[in-house]
Amino acid sequence: MTAQFKMAPRFELINVSKRYLANQFPALDNVNLVIYEKKINTLMGKSGCGKSTLARVLMSLENFDSGEILYRGKAMNSIPIKEFRKKNQVMFQDPYLSVNPYFTIRKILWEPLLINKKPAHKNEFKEKVDHLLELLEIPASFLDRYPSELSGGQLQRIVLARALALAPEFIVLDEPFSSLDEIMAARLIHCFKNIFTQLEIGVLFISHHLNHVKFLADYVAIMEKGRIIHQEPTNYTN
Ligand SMILES: Nc1ncnc2c1ncn2[C@@H]1O[C@H](COP(=O)(O)OP(=O)(O)O)[C@@H](O)[C@H]1O
Ligand SMILES: [Mg+2]
Repeated sequence: MTAQFKMAPRFELINVSKRYLANQFPALDNVNLVIYEKKINTLMGKSGCGKSTLARVLMSLENFDSGEILYRGKAMNSIPIKEFRKKNQVMFQDPYLSVNPYFTIRKILWEPLLINKKPAHKNEFKEKVDHLLELLEIPASFLDRYPSELSGGQLQRIVLARALALAPEFIVLDEPFSSLDEIMAARLIHCFKNIFTQLEIGVLFISHHLNHVKFLADYVAIMEKGRIIHQEPTNYTN
């Protein structure tokens, strides 16, 4: 029963297609893909093959032309979007574009909590944020700084902490390390993997970096020119 549950699909894309008006070729061309609960699902492919389009369509940030997406076995358009957004988070490549540059790190981390919920007691959010700082090895001294005062790697940790603040069940990471140097990327990838395993969060990790995929993947899918050309479980990690 437990083993079966762990293999449950969170998303199923069935013949999903999308073409941008200006483009001759579709960005998504009859995509069929299963994304599993509580697993690190990875998507690899060359630049321009449709990875980010797939991520945006999956997260309901963009429409698609034809096909179907099932979310936990149900049609996506039957799911209340507010609930969906809380449970499914996205993290993009450039952390500086993901945060308000005029907010302190403290405000950035508190914002999603305040928008979604009134604190039950005075210290509730503080405890939550303190826990996230610890988990992501973020020094408390960062809280009063502004995004421009942090390095890309430091800020990417903040962006993940903010995404985790709402205790999501699933998170899409679209090339989260590609704006970082290799040493910083290697440090972050270990930290991120520990967190995903510890919190049992499902992940769609998008990358064109084979070593990153090898290190993280429970499942790997390869994309080429808008199509999934290969999907399989890996034995890289288990
Ligand atoms: N907003 C957009 N408008 C028009 N074309 C787009 C847009 N976003 C992506 N594309 C095109 O769709 C294709 C897939 O892009 P994208 O999903 O960004 O690929 P990847 O993330 O794999 O680099 C590319 O040809 C790209 O130029
Ligand atoms: Mg992309």
